[in-house]
Amino acid sequence: MDLSVDLGKIRLKNPLICASSEITMTANGIRAAIDAGAGAVIAKSVNELPEAAAQLSKADYVLLDDDWRVIPWDSPQRRDASLFCRSGLAQMPLEQWLAMLAELDDYAKQKQSIVVGSITVAQPAPAAEIARKMEAAGLRWIELNLGAPHGREASAVRQVTAQDAVRNYVRTVRRAVSIPLAVKLTAQADDPLALAAIAMEEGADMLVLTGRIQGFMPDIETQKPILGSWGAIGGGWALPASLYWVSKCWRNVSKEVPIIGTNGARSAEDVVRFLLSGARAVELASAAIINGLQVFPEIIAGIRSYCERKHILQLQELIGKAADCSLAYSEIPENANQRFPWEV
Ligand SMILES: Cc1cc2nc3c(=O)[nH]c(=O)nc-3n(C[C@H](O)[C@H](O)[C@H](O)COP(=O)(O)O)c2cc1C
Repeated sequence: MDLSVDLGKIRLKNPLICASSEITMTANGIRAAIDAGAGAVIAKSVNELPEAAAQLSKADYVLLDDDWRVIPWDSPQRRDASLFCRSGLAQMPLEQWLAMLAELDDYAKQKQSIVVGSITVAQPAPAAEIARKMEAAGLRWIELNLGAPHGREASAVRQVTAQDAVRNYVRTVRRAVSIPLAVKLTAQADDPLALAAIAMEEGADMLVLTGRIQGFMPDIETQKPILGSWGAIGGGWALPASLYWVSKCWRNVSKEVPIIGTNGARSAEDVVRFLLSGARAVELASAAIINGLQVFPEIIAGIRSYCERKHILQLQELIGKAADCSLAYSEIPENANQRFPWEV
């Protein structure tokens, strides 16, 4: 069975990508993700501002259960928990960081994986300069994160939601490098599909949909905010919203530009759901942070057994299959004997 997926200029040995997070902030973490079988590993993001790196020293992370209560990190309920956090960017000096990533990418090559440089933007021109240095260091793929949820609270990173701004960031970075460029977008925007189309027009080779969202959660006992502030939140509940934008992008924007799904995948079944919605690969962060990197071999095994059960020989057969047969509301026939499934 062939689990490889085609991302245009890049072919992954499987559709699982270890997403950018604190796990991919150290050489050990990146190497462990490669060893765990990830098709690609997105390094923790960097940008030009010391304030963005300093923000990491104010990071805090909690797990919330279904009732939005904080649970311990070793709780048996952690598998289904939502991860609520503040975060910041990698703190290593850029030259040292890039030398480390280049070395890790050499290691990745031996394992048919790839280490991806990531930039969570502040300003466009410095982002392009960092991208140029990433290419010069020998990296083979860059992810430009325009969707950082924390950009709503901390000006050292930006959540870019305006169409002309997305155009400017992608154009500026695209002109600086020739290696494949993935653009990660937020759905906390007026028209996420317009942002996707613009990123594509400006030369994005892949779209990553969608970034996590900002949230707020009071603790009803202390009557204070959990984390003491606003924060980014993700969980299994985010999956349908992420699949909405992936499927709409597949149907309405392009089937040519590879879509990478992110935000809400917790299992092999969720990865299959992303593929059926139009994604060709899936970036996972929370599941790996919460359950450890063994989620990668577990999910890969789960995808294999799903494919065996469904007689799928190539993952390509799944991509966009459910999105392609989704009806528009206007196409749904009226039901003459409408019955509501509840009693009044
Ligand atoms: C603690 C933490 C740190 C993250 N840091 C970054 C980052 O530096 N750059 C980035 O593009 N995304 C970052 N993300 C977002 C993830 O890459 C991923 O897209 C998101 O968490 C949704 O996927 P998930 O549901 O598998 O967690 C971070 C997520 C978490 C939980």
